[in-house]
Order: sequence, then C-alpha cells, then structure tokens
Amino acid sequence: MPWDLVKLNDGHTMPSIAFGTWTLGNGQGPIDQVEQALSVGFEHVDTAQAYRNEAEAGQGIKESGLSRSDVFITTKYSGTGGLDVETSIDNSLKNLGVSYVDLYLIHSPRLATPDIPTIWSKMEKIKADGKAKSIGVSNFQVQHLETLLNSAKVKPAANQILLHPYVYKSQAPLLEYCAKNNIVVEAYSALIPLTHQPGGPVDKPVNAIASRLSAKPEQVLLAWVKAKGAVAVTTSSRKDRLQSYLSAADLELTNEDIESIDKAGARSS
Ligand SMILES: NC(=O)c1ccc[n+]([C@@H]2O[C@H](COP(=O)([O-])OP(=O)(O)OC[C@H]3O[C@@H](n4cnc5c(N)ncnc54)[C@H](OP(=O)(O)O)[C@@H]3O)[C@@H](O)[C@H]2O)c1
Repeated sequence: MPWDLVKLNDGHTMPSIAFGTWTLGNGQGPIDQVEQALSVGFEHVDTAQAYRNEAEAGQGIKESGLSRSDVFITTKYSGTGGLDVETSIDNSLKNLGVSYVDLYLIHSPRLATPDIPTIWSKMEKIKADGKAKSIGVSNFQVQHLETLLNSAKVKPAANQILLHPYVYKSQAPLLEYCAKNNIVVEAYSALIPLTHQPGGPVDKPVNAIASRLSAKPEQVLLAWVKAKGAVAVTTSSRKDRLQSYLSAADLELTNEDIESIDKAGARSS
C-alpha cells in the first residue's frame, strides 16, 4: 500500500490515509461507499457517533469480506443523545458490529465534561477493557492537551484536527506540540481549498505542481498533508478519485513546492 503505516505511541500502527463517513448519510449509499473504499485499497475507516452511520460503516466493512484485523476502525465519542462515554462506546461497538475499535476519540474538547482529566480516565478504562486498542482526541488545542497530559496515565495516540493550507499557519504550533509529545496528527478536510474556497491563493501553486507532476490538485493537497507528517482523513463517492487519493502518496513534492503552498495559504488570513 502506498501510504505507510504510522506507529502510534502505544505500539499499535495506523494506516496513514482514512476513508471518512461524515457526509455519507444513511442507508445503502454509505454501505456501498465504505465497501468501495475498501475494495480499492483503503484500510482505515473513520466514523463517529455524530455521523449516525456507524451501522452502515460496519455493514460495509462486513460486506467487503476483509477480516476484522485487516481494517483499522476509528470512531468518536460525540456526546450524541446526551449519553456518557461508557454507554456510547458500547453503542458504537454494537452499531459497528465489532468487539473493539482500533481508535476511539473524544470528538471535541467541549465534550470533556465535567473536565478533561475525568473523561480521559474513562477513556483509559475503555482501552484497559479492550474496547479500543488506542485512544485519542479530536479538535484539541495545545491548552487542552496540556491539561490532559498533566493527569494522563495513557497518552493520547492521535489528535484529529482541521488541517489544510489556509489554516496551516494557525495550526503549526499545535502540529509542533503533537510531534514533541509523540501524538499523531490526523488531518481532516484537507481538500477545503477545492471544495469550499476555490479561486483562492492556494490554487496557483497547487495547480502548477499538479500540472508539473501530471497529477490532480486533490492529490497534491493530500501529498502536502503527508509531507506535514499527518494522517489524511478524506472521502470521495467516486472510485476513480479514491484510487487517485491512494496513488497521491507517490507524489514527490519538493521543499519549494511545500513552501509555495504554505505561503499561499498564509496569504488568505
Ligand atoms: N474530527 C472532526 O471533527 C472531523 C470534522 C470533519 C471531517 N472529519 C472526517 O474527515 C472526513 C473527510 O472530511 P471532508 O469531507 O471535509 O474531507 P475532504 O477530504 O476535504 O473532502 C472530501 C470531498 O472532496 C471532494 N473532492 C475531491 N476532489 C475534488 C475536486 N477536485 N473538486 C471538488 N471536490 C472535490 C469529494 O467529492 P466527491 O465525493 O464528489 O469525490 C469529497 O466529498 C469526514 O468524512 C470525517 O470522517 C472529522
């Protein structure tokens, strides 16, 4: 597989590109799309309680015919229905039809009630009970991680955050902090320059690099995520696009390419 496995701080490994189910809705559609992603070579499915399609994700994984150990499953505690984290993980496992997830994340620091140390100790218990092989967080900023690390027995394995060129400058200190503390950064919505901000300053360098490398702009953005040392969490309804996402790992961006994207991204703010 072109995207390497990333070593987590607890000894487990994680495929460095994930197929996300956030926008897929319910019913047969997401089942087929998860199956399609696995059929082209994705080995990591990213879902969440809040996406309300864990059952479809689980069904798609089952229908892929892959064995449980061949698929890395991430889900998240989203506080849906006001349920506590202990009840939520049990529901997620039931929805997904599995006995454990590979990674369980707190979806946002605002869900850390009554406080970060208390919810993190519950996450540690979920790991100790074998319901999640690894535990982590999402959308945590440096101050949240500092609070967490002050009381943690188990370090978070990953922090899943918004990361694309237009927010790189503001997220860079968080990336540095995570690297220093051996926390893997997972980047979601990396394609925002294409999906939500087309016509912005990032287009020029991304298009120039894409045409030089005979690649697609979305491939350049995913290669940029990889160059930042982050795991890419993306999605597509299209088989050809999913295949192109996977081959994006082979694009060789130069330091100048990366700098040109960073500089253009910083110009938006
Ligand atoms: N932890 C969190 O708080 C959080 C928040 C947001 C997302 N996530 C995770 O990250 C996953 C991905 O999020 P995202 O959908 O925002 O990611 P994204 O990777 O930025 O965008 C994926 C979308 O880009 C579209 N796309 C690809 N190439 C394009 C092009 N050249 N022009 C126009 N559109 C293009 C695809 O559309 P097609 O389907 O048409 O190919 C697809 O819907 C989610 O499913 C979820 O698992 C997590």
